[in-house]
Amino acid sequence: MKKQTLIYNGKSKQIFATESQNFVIMTYKDDETAYFGVKKSVIPNKGMLNSKISSLIFQYLERNGIHTHYVEQLDNNEQLCRRATTLPLEFIARNVIAGSLSRRLDIEEGTVPEQPIYEICLKSDALRDPMINGYHVVALGLAKEETLTQILKIMQQINSLLTELLKKSHIDLIDFKVEFGFDSEGNLMLIDEISPDTARFWDSESHEHLDRDLFSRDLGDVEIAYKEVLSRLENVLQNG
Ligand code: CDP
Repeated sequence: MKKQTLIYNGKSKQIFATESQNFVIMTYKDDETAYFGVKKSVIPNKGMLNSKISSLIFQYLERNGIHTHYVEQLDNNEQLCRRATTLPLEFIARNVIAGSLSRRLDIEEGTVPEQPIYEICLKSDALRDPMINGYHVVALGLAKEETLTQILKIMQQINSLLTELLKKSHIDLIDFKVEFGFDSEGNLMLIDEISPDTARFWDSESHEHLDRDLFSRDLGDVEIAYKEVLSRLENVLQNG
């Protein structure tokens, strides 16, 4: 399938129409942003690395029963995906306190809560993705209650599957953000990406960041760390 018109131009990805109504091509950019676009840079090979990392993760999730938009990797930084009707929501799972939660509740980063924490945010750069709850979602017509229940169950499955996969790669899954949409038959599916740009990955032994915090907090070389994540995942997934 070939790229046709650009239908979405985001901070880190572009979505192109294809000759089929049911498929789109998603391309990953080298642009890196933090703090809702306030801090910006271009990181060589980042698009290719995130595309490959997210491909491996989405294929792994598909093999384990999670319906996703992923179809195939086309080029280094391009994927063929099922077209989705998207929900204006972001879902975050947290296994360890970090980032905004650490700041908001003044809890030391690295604290392990008694159970994973799941959060919902309204997807809006202008409003800085405000956190909302399930009552807001249903009352404001953002998603049906049954959809929300289904999503929270899938989030728990994704969290367990990813935690297990990453553990084998000597990476702790601190938190991650995902998005959902519906395919052309109305089935709920995981969309967007899962990569070190949308999750916190800490090396299990050294606890060093292998994620976007390297960029947002000026902690080290992003390209080297993302390459390391890809090679560890390839080792576990492709070489057994
Ligand atoms: O990273 P930050 O402190 O701004 O936000 P957070 O609420 O701690 O984010 C939790 C996780 O979701 C992190 O892995 C973020 O990278 C990810 N996230 C994202 O990918 N996109 C957003 N708009 C917000 C969070």
